[in-house]
Amino acid sequence: MRSHYSGELSADLVGRRVTLAGWAHRRRDHGGVIFIDLRDRDGLAQVVCDPDRAEAFGNAERVRGEYVLRVTGVVRRRPEGTVNPNLKSGAVEVLAHEVEILNTAVPPPFQLDDDTISETVRLEHRIVDLRRDFMQRNLRLRHRAARAARAYLDGNHFVEIETPVLYKSTPEGAREFLVPSRLNDGQFYALPQSPQLFKQMLMIAGFDRYYQITKCFRDEDLRADRQPEFTQIDIETSFLDEVKIRGLMEGLARHLFKDVLGVELPDPFPVMAYEDAMRDYGVDKPDLRIPLKLAELTDVMKDVDFKVFSGPANAPGGRVVALCVPGGATISRSEIDAYTEYLRGLGAKGLAWIKVNERAKGAEGLQSPIVKNIHAAALAAVLERTGAKDGDLVFFGADKADACNAHLGALRQKVGHDRGLAEKGWRPLWVVDFPMFEFDEESKLWKARHHPFTSPKDGHEAFMESAPEKAYAKAYDMVLNGWEVAGGSVRIHREQVQQQVFRAMRIPPEEQQAKFGFLLQALQYGAPPHGGIAFGFDRLVALMAGVEAIRDVIAFPKTQRGQDMVTGAPSPVSERQLRELHIRLRNAPAPQ
Ligand code: AMO
Ligand code: AMP
Repeated sequence: MRSHYSGELSADLVGRRVTLAGWAHRRRDHGGVIFIDLRDRDGLAQVVCDPDRAEAFGNAERVRGEYVLRVTGVVRRRPEGTVNPNLKSGAVEVLAHEVEILNTAVPPPFQLDDDTISETVRLEHRIVDLRRDFMQRNLRLRHRAARAARAYLDGNHFVEIETPVLYKSTPEGAREFLVPSRLNDGQFYALPQSPQLFKQMLMIAGFDRYYQITKCFRDEDLRADRQPEFTQIDIETSFLDEVKIRGLMEGLARHLFKDVLGVELPDPFPVMAYEDAMRDYGVDKPDLRIPLKLAELTDVMKDVDFKVFSGPANAPGGRVVALCVPGGATISRSEIDAYTEYLRGLGAKGLAWIKVNERAKGAEGLQSPIVKNIHAAALAAVLERTGAKDGDLVFFGADKADACNAHLGALRQKVGHDRGLAEKGWRPLWVVDFPMFEFDEESKLWKARHHPFTSPKDGHEAFMESAPEKAYAKAYDMVLNGWEVAGGSVRIHREQVQQQVFRAMRIPPEEQQAKFGFLLQALQYGAPPHGGIAFGFDRLVALMAGVEAIRDVIAFPKTQRGQDMVTGAPSPVSERQLRELHIRLRNAPAPQ
């Protein structure tokens, strides 16, 4: 139907007859001459229709936005002064001999080059939205990233193997999506949160290096970086230790950035222990572009009059920290109030602060409602440990350590960006040495921090049941500019150790067998030492594309309420379908 894409039109083709096909992006009637910007996957080409060719001109007059056209004509140079350097075809235009309307279109719900459209409208009219240059670029970038990942992994002898989507309910962390079985009354499949146990079984089966670019499903609360179905580059290797696995995986990240963006990431990536990340940044995925660290104050605030600080400082598991913002004395009261509200939204009780006007004057030189309740030695420690200078502002957090870290970690991120302190560029790192378990207050049980198949550090097996808080894992996360882009671990390859972990989590033997019997059995067949990782592919691509929400790099994403605005899923099903699946809805009237 076509001889060329618009991107192929150049001065080399001047005088040649070409046929283009695409959509009418814009039509301008210049009294006597009609210009049509014809859009195809390469971008735009300017088509000129003049009245000399009556049929073509007549058709051009009927063209409206988003009509589907086929245009045959001759390439010519654009007149002096009308060359458009922003278009691939910007040096030339096509003088139309024939204009064929292949299809009409209703008026689009919004102009394709309007950047002010709300996301709801964009998601409702996703087909039109996907035509926009922004989405075209993002999805093509996603394709290039997937291709680059496959090339790297193929080059490193990984085999792509598909694993089932109809899987078994095996608690791994997040809530699962269930699928009723018609053939087995009362039984359910679960959609996999990840192919974790399949890839481990593939290692036991001798494949040595596996990967899969695959969908994972988690029924979680959704956020900008979370979708209920998302894509992982899922990877597993045998006979490699943690350091070797990380080396191969940062190689993959470097290859992707080089191939897709032409960016060289550091080699090697810096490595940070989880404890250090929490101490210095309050989060396990610090954005290293922001050159601010938290300062520890728990020890010096134990005997101050200010109860907001001395309370947590003396409480077991409490923490008091400071965050110094260079030049922050220019932050206004109303901005401080806004930060305080932001942290209250995250559950903080408040946000104390001190402005450093003249450090040399001691307490006199400090401006803050709280200074009078904090003795001189503690104030001196604040200044010393934060390194605060004249003109800086120091924020404080005091609470249970987890809360304090979460609040001040988030504040560091927000203030850092608001104040333009973030460096440009890419700051990857590994966060390693995670605790094996975390205590779940609700169930009063220890839960696996990564997943229960993660190996303890050598020598930490003994702690797992006696002192779970002391057991550390061979787990690692890859962090990039404050996003967790990948997570993985060395796995347990001995059945006894796996059972110890289940015992530490208080999963009784019968339940172990019912849920993980297949794994425990597989581990008996000569399981090799193995380990791997999974990249959040949507997140990686979102970072590369420079967008804030992974929805912008997914063709048909779900809304915050888990809905697909295009098809209307989820939706009710007929009574007959339910009957076939042996299901009766709780809130529906009983069937006759
Ligand atoms: P994990 O649960 O850490 O590990 O997931 C790996 C990576 O997947 C991304 N990710 C998500 N992206 C979008 N939406 C979500 N809801 C979502 N949840 C996770 C993150 C994360 O780093 N089986 C293990 C991997 C392993 O141990 O090899 C796993 O799934 O970028
Ligand atoms: P109050 O004594 O409650 O009026 O608080 C005095 C100051 O401490 C105010 O600026 C509060 O915002 C702040 N503040 C209160 N609770 C905390 C906390 N847990 N961490 C940090 N600052 C707090």
